[in-house]
Amino acid sequence: MTRIAVIPGDGIGKEVVREGVKILNYFNSKYDLKITFKDFDLGAARYLKTGELIPDNILHELETFDAIFLGAVGDPAVPPGILEKGILLKLRFYFDQYINLRPVRLYHDRFSPLKNKGVEEINFTVIRENTEGIYAGIGGFLKKGTPDEIATQEMVSTRKGVDRIIKYAFEYARERGGKLTLCDKSNVLTYAHDLWQRAFKEMAARYKDVETDHFLIDAITMKMVRNPEVFDVIVTCNIFGDIITDLGAELQGGMGLAASGNINPETVSMFEPVHGSAPDIAGKNIANPLAAILSAGMILDYLGKAELAKKVELAVKEALATNQITPDMGGDLSTTDVGDYIVETLKNLEDDE
Ligand code: NAD
Ligand code: IPM
Ligand code: MN
Repeated sequence: MTRIAVIPGDGIGKEVVREGVKILNYFNSKYDLKITFKDFDLGAARYLKTGELIPDNILHELETFDAIFLGAVGDPAVPPGILEKGILLKLRFYFDQYINLRPVRLYHDRFSPLKNKGVEEINFTVIRENTEGIYAGIGGFLKKGTPDEIATQEMVSTRKGVDRIIKYAFEYARERGGKLTLCDKSNVLTYAHDLWQRAFKEMAARYKDVETDHFLIDAITMKMVRNPEVFDVIVTCNIFGDIITDLGAELQGGMGLAASGNINPETVSMFEPVHGSAPDIAGKNIANPLAAILSAGMILDYLGKAELAKKVELAVKEALATNQITPDMGGDLSTTDVGDYIVETLKNLEDDE
């Protein structure tokens, strides 16, 4: 039996996760995968009612699952950072999900925002360090609220933390026969990213068959727009990975398409769309569920069902090709209609086999 914990969260998180679960349920009944789901109501509503973010008993219960499927957290009624740090980052850190895997894949030329760059050119993966850097939470205030106020927020790079993400990235690039690009700011962060530079070079010596490359964070944003075809796999620190994957999402057609996995092969991994709770469109059944559906595909891949994950991608391609999409991408379907369309397409794909 495979047990998946579902955390719909806030805003459109709830709406898009439902569609992801719909797809998993379709495969479940078709192939008797024996996946069971349990919902956890964590997010703004619970926090505003009880003051709880993730109670300890839930955290411990989550340890017993095979994977977590999360929608998004964040709500205008709650001050920034409380839900994001208290739920999302809490889970990433608690389960030490050090790999944030974020594929950037354009599925249909029509949705490329770049002239002359299509599905051949926009196809790479960002591997973001997910447990340290500026997200580590070290820092604080001195003389808060006075004219002499000081605020610090430290960027933490540990040798072990940097080594393990770089090693994973080399393995990932080797498996796929691609080039590995290091993205950092070693020209200014001469301590933190000096460590990244040394760790990368030392690891490269152990992976001589993997071609390598390097870009500074500012220059990589230029290159991602001008020549995205030069990238296969990019490894980078937490904050840079956060920023360039929103840019990546736009390259692949929009935030509604970008999927991700927070992975630690030894503990419990968590899958979620890259986007947030989108309060501006929440509750209207118009959010694009494809990022959540592709994230559900990543769960299948993670669970060893790569062939089913491929089918999810094929069905998404079909939805994009035939305009069976939500308004953010120029279609007129609702969130639930898109989920239904993907299920129908999956059925047809299998009939053709
Ligand atoms: P956002 O990703 O929620 O939205 C940015 C823009 O993209 C909005 O205009 C939104 O309508 C649009 N958008 C996003 N996803 C979409 C989808 N699936 N379909 C159609 N349009 C979509 O980012 P934001 O507005 O900066 O953040 C809103 C809240 O979400 C904040 O509280 C933030 O902290 C939180 N957040 C959470 C996560 C997460 O839980 N993983 C990620 C990012 C932001
Ligand atoms: C993301 C989000 C989160 C991050 C926030 C909500 C903490 O932007 O998953 O990209 O910065 O990692
Ligand atoms: Mn982000």
